[in-house]
Amino acid sequence: MNKRVKLTELNEYKSLLMHFDKIGKSTISGLFKEDPERGSSFRCEKAGVYFDYSKNIITRETVDLLIDLAKACRLPEEIERMFSGEKINETENRSVLHTALRNIGERPVFVDGEDVMPMVRSVLQRMKIVSDRIRSLKWNGYTGKPVKNIINIGIGGSDLGPVMVCEALRHYGSDDLAVKFVSNVDGTHLTETVRGLDPEETLFIVASKTFTTMETMTNAESAKKWILDSMHSADAVACHFLALSTNLEAVKTFGIAEENMFEFWDWVGGRYSLCSAIGLSIMIAVGYDRFMELLGGFYEMDNHFREAEFSENIPVLMALIGIWYNNFFGFETHAVLPYEQYLHRFPAYLQQGDMESNGKYVTRTGERVSYQTGPVIWGEPGTNGQHAFFQLIHQGTKIIPADFIAYAMPLNGGMDHHDKLIANMLAQAEALAFGKTREAVTAEGVEERLVPYKVFEGNRPTNVILFDKLTPRELGKLIAMYEHRIFVQGVIWDIYSFDQWGVELGKVLAGKILKELQMDVPCNLGHDSSTNSLIRYYRGKTVEHAE
Ligand code: F6P
Repeated sequence: MNKRVKLTELNEYKSLLMHFDKIGKSTISGLFKEDPERGSSFRCEKAGVYFDYSKNIITRETVDLLIDLAKACRLPEEIERMFSGEKINETENRSVLHTALRNIGERPVFVDGEDVMPMVRSVLQRMKIVSDRIRSLKWNGYTGKPVKNIINIGIGGSDLGPVMVCEALRHYGSDDLAVKFVSNVDGTHLTETVRGLDPEETLFIVASKTFTTMETMTNAESAKKWILDSMHSADAVACHFLALSTNLEAVKTFGIAEENMFEFWDWVGGRYSLCSAIGLSIMIAVGYDRFMELLGGFYEMDNHFREAEFSENIPVLMALIGIWYNNFFGFETHAVLPYEQYLHRFPAYLQQGDMESNGKYVTRTGERVSYQTGPVIWGEPGTNGQHAFFQLIHQGTKIIPADFIAYAMPLNGGMDHHDKLIANMLAQAEALAFGKTREAVTAEGVEERLVPYKVFEGNRPTNVILFDKLTPRELGKLIAMYEHRIFVQGVIWDIYSFDQWGVELGKVLAGKILKELQMDVPCNLGHDSSTNSLIRYYRGKTVEHAE
């Protein structure tokens, strides 16, 4: 690849700066006055998704200039490089092919000259066999009882995606099985998860790409002890443990047989892995057919992203609007607000997806960036958030662009609940955009001294994303939309979105400190004075309590 011109030196970026000078002070109300039909013209209905981006501080020219910027950053070429298996994760020398995992069409996908699709299909078939067996209560534990409790042990990408999807698709789950998740190395997580469960009816899935992650391996060892303490035979491990990993040797060393391991590959990033074997807990929860529907939704959005013109490409538009606020307005966070209780883990999932991908300050050519990269992603489902943090979004000093996500048809509670839910969401988006003027407040007869408190400035930007119904397929589309939003922004910021070196330092230091915490008397501590004192204090307390 030729070295790219620095983002802020691109003519297209400079044009956007000039444009920002011109329209940055516009208001959403003003833009709607100028173009009363904005609600139709700044809307994109593609791949079964209704994406309304009219309540943003943008004009048609803004969108055009942002698209010019994306092209100047070679977005079309970068999209093709990703889909065709080029090693775009250059710091790890890996392809980035989560899209191959849901490539349910006929197209081959090559890595180092080999079509990976037969491997992908073969693992899916093995997952089908085991998940069918478990779902029909034909997977027996060591003592012959069928397993009914499935516990996925993993962390980060080996946990957040599967938890989020299992929660999102809980409506489609089986009443015969309980699918649970343990991630935190805090012993409470495992203890409380297995509380009251019969080990003879419990199957653990150890999910770890590397099979070396400290939290996961510690929890897996404790789970093994829990099983062995109950069944008193090493042979029980074979009936009560499955592994999802790229590391066969480590899986075997743990005691899990090769036939109980489900493989994936180094070209699947952890936070992009839920369509791989890492999704086995999902397949067990909802069944093979629904898992395939989920992949179908991903595939439809992948094709939309790869093929649609940027002016009507939902992930591209989402990404570009994010760039506009992040790099020109200087807004630092982005809220994701699903008005759908089943999506309650979606913001947490996206935090890893987005912040581990784009929380980087070094460009692809190794220089420090001179502009902002990934925003802080956060959120909670509505309407709960309205009674918690929405005050700050409406009247705080920070502007927080937000995405509202909802479904036209409810899964539970009938239309009374649902109409109220959606009325709240639409009301929030309207209030955030248009606010309430001093005149309007005064006209209501509000006491003069209270008027300032009751005025809403408005001009808080939002997108509204509507789907028909929360089905596996619609969920796949939603997740893929956000994955591709992350990709587009990473390309524009010229950073490597698919590595995560920033998590390494803490891991190394934790290993060193762990040894020190376990010394009789911590000595030769080479840390700063704060860390040294904390180690000594903690060790003193643990010794005191052990006595
Ligand atoms: O610490 C970050 C990370 O490497 C994530 O990227 C990854 O999803 C997680 O740890 C878990 O890794 P593994 O699947 O190898 O246990």
